[in-house]
Parts: sequence; structure tokens; C-alpha cells
Amino acid sequence: MPAAEPDFDPAWLDQYVLPNYGRFPIWPERGEGPYLWDSTGKKYLDFAGGVAVCPLGHAHPEVADAIALQAHTLIHVSNWYCIKQQAQLARLIVEDFVHIPGRCFFSNSGAEANEGMIKLARKYGVNTPLPDGSPRYEIVTFSGSFHGRTFGAMSATAQEKIHGGFGPIVPGFVYSAFNDIDALRSAITERTVAIMLEPIQGESGVHPATPEFLRAVQSFCDQHDLLLLLDEVQCGFGRTGDTCGWRSIVPGDEIQPSAISWAKSIGSGFPLGAFWVRDAEVRNPQSPIRNLIHLLGPGTHGTTYGGSPLACAAGLATLGVIKRDQLPSHSAALGKRIAGEVASWKHPLITDIRAFGMMIGFELDEATLNALPAVAASGKPASIWLAAQLIDDGLLVVPAGPKVVRWLPPMNLTEPQATEALQIFHNTLNRILQ
Ligand SMILES: Cc1ncc(COP(=O)(O)O)c(C=O)c1O
Repeated sequence: MPAAEPDFDPAWLDQYVLPNYGRFPIWPERGEGPYLWDSTGKKYLDFAGGVAVCPLGHAHPEVADAIALQAHTLIHVSNWYCIKQQAQLARLIVEDFVHIPGRCFFSNSGAEANEGMIKLARKYGVNTPLPDGSPRYEIVTFSGSFHGRTFGAMSATAQEKIHGGFGPIVPGFVYSAFNDIDALRSAITERTVAIMLEPIQGESGVHPATPEFLRAVQSFCDQHDLLLLLDEVQCGFGRTGDTCGWRSIVPGDEIQPSAISWAKSIGSGFPLGAFWVRDAEVRNPQSPIRNLIHLLGPGTHGTTYGGSPLACAAGLATLGVIKRDQLPSHSAALGKRIAGEVASWKHPLITDIRAFGMMIGFELDEATLNALPAVAASGKPASIWLAAQLIDDGLLVVPAGPKVVRWLPPMNLTEPQATEALQIFHNTLNRILQ
């Protein structure tokens, strides 16, 4: 814990800040690339990366310069006016990441990006109603999903632990079992208007949709005129080894999303989110709105801060480096090496490895860990206990559920930095079993 100073006392965090986060007791002060230093001067390899937020590591000079230059030029201007950086960033996303014609909206976070997609689906349902004229409105989402903490995104999240205590939640979401094609078939009704999913679930512990499941989702969407909404907030922009997360599962153009949401990696930590809407026709000839990109027309949706010149400058610099330095393919190769090396240890505490580029889930032998006196005494789930041990040894990772730790390192990680992290991980796992 840092020392008290005239204008700062560490006790203020508990005294003045709401206690909604379970925090590890370190106080990061400075970062550079994949490294972080805390208030005591201790150095860490940061493979939490702000939970998949820092694709270029900390303090990347090109991102920092772009933010500083834009801050000195124009930080914010209202969306009542035309914002050049929005146009540039939307073009970069469409042409160099999605590769499908469409348009973008800029938000401030992942949850807000998902809210926009949910509103898009509701509008689609109004424009493609049931035979009696009433709107279709149900959106199918999946067990283990996480879409954010705002009311719509929270209600879309098929986890009682996320919405418990906040009811009544927003109606219209139907939860189905992830990767279960028959369950999805039964979940679709005449009122269904969209299917929403993370191609690779992050918070549940790096669980990918299977290729068969994604293909089935696409075919149900085609068959029933449903929007396919992909939440790529955590897995987007190349982290998983392709410019789009879903293409690391089904390569090419077989999957045709109607909309995609992002945040996290897009701005290197500057608050920014976005969603993209496909340039595609509304399939009802009676609909006055003929194209998906016009469903959210003037006055239907907006936000004060979303897509400010400053936020978009951060996004342009970040995505520009990801593209120029071909970081998706670098991530794919390095992620494979990391997973291969951990697999070669055949370590008794690791029961499964799910690796998609720089998004890697290590599933732990929960029973063995929970049986250790130190874990039992801590009263913490195995994943959180292990993350604390790794912090002691200088490696930051993210727990996901009770038995998975995630590595979400920068996409520009080098081979020697990966080796350094692997050594810490291996030593910690061995130390635990001594
Ligand atoms: C897949 C996914 N969707 C949405 C969100 C919510 O994003 P935010 O915290 O920026 O609102 C997250 C955050 O972890 C996420 O992983």
C-alpha cells in the first residue's frame, strides 16, 4: 500500500469509493508495454491488460502522441456537428477489420455498444412484424454470456448472478444453452427477432462457439429472418488471431453478422465502444425503412460523448498499429506457442487450455486446488487464489469464474516476454504443489 501524502491517503479508497469491486491490493502507478509498476516499485508482467483493453500494452508512444496531439487540438465537439475522426475510424473498421459493407456508431463502452445493437433489433422487429402487425421483439442469448451491466445488456446476459437483485429485468430476452443447436431451435418463436452471442465467451472462461453452432445460428437467422448480433467487445479487433473474432472459428464469409459490437481493444484504454450495422435490406417489402443502416435514423439513438475527436484519435492510432504491424497473425502464432508450451508441461493443476491468439483460458483442477489448506483458508475461489499467487510472483492474469485464469496480454507481445511469463506461471504452479 502506498504511503499517505498530504493530498492522498490510501484509506480514501475504502472511505469514499463504493465497494462494488473485489480488488487485489496493489496500486499500479506506471506502465510500459506489457510491464506495470506498482506504488512500491514492484514490476509485473501485465497479462490482464485491463481485461483485454490494452492491445498495444501500456503507454504506447503512437497512441499517447495521438491522444496528446488531439487533446491540444480539439477534445470534444457535439454530434450535432460532423466529426472527421469518426468518419476515418469507421472507414478503418469497415474496410480493414470487418471487410463487409456497413456503417458504425460510436459509444463509450461495451455495454452501451450492446444497448445499441439491442435497440437495432427492437427496431427491426417493428419493421418486420407478426402477421397481426405486432412487433417481433425476442432476442435469444446464451448461458455463460456476458454483455455488460446496463439494464439492457445485463438483461441480455444469461446469468442470474449478474441480474439477481435488480429485477424486474428488461423483458424480451430468451436464454438458451450455449453450443446446443436443439435448444436454440426450441428457443426460437414467431416473436424472435435476433440471436445475440459472443463468438468466444470471455467472462465465462474463454469458451468458443463451436463451428457447427455458429453455422446453425447463421442458418436459423436466414430461415427465420433474424438479426445475428455478435458481441466482440472482448474478442474483437485481432486479439483472437483474425481481424474478427468469429472468423477465428469459422474463417471467411460463411458467417454474415447483421451487427457487431466492440469496446476494450478499440481505444487502448481510452473509453470508446462501437457497433457496426450491415448494409443489407430489411426483408419486409412493406417496411418504410428499406435498409438496416437506416433503422437507427436521426433522433432514434445517440450519446453525448460517443465518438469524440479525442476518443476516435485513440481508436485510429490503436487500430492503425494493429493493422500496420499485422498483429492478428502475430497473436495467432504466439498464442499457439504459449498454449503448446503449457500443454507440454502436462501440469496436474491445468486440466484444459483454450487458446485463441492473445485470449487464452487455462482451466484449473479446482478440486485439487480447493483441497489445499491455503486455498481453503483464503475462502476464495481457486481462480482468484491462483491469480493472487501469480501477483506475488509478478504476473497479472484475470480470473474467469471459479476455475479459469485468463491471459489477455498485449497483441504486440514479444517471444522473450512470453517466455518470461511462462517461466513465472510454471514456477508458481510448481511452488503451489510443493
Ligand atoms: C463480451 C463482453 N461484452 C460486453 C462487455 C461490457 O463492456 P463494458 O464493461 O465496456 O461495458 C464485456 C466486458 O467485460 C464483455 O466482455
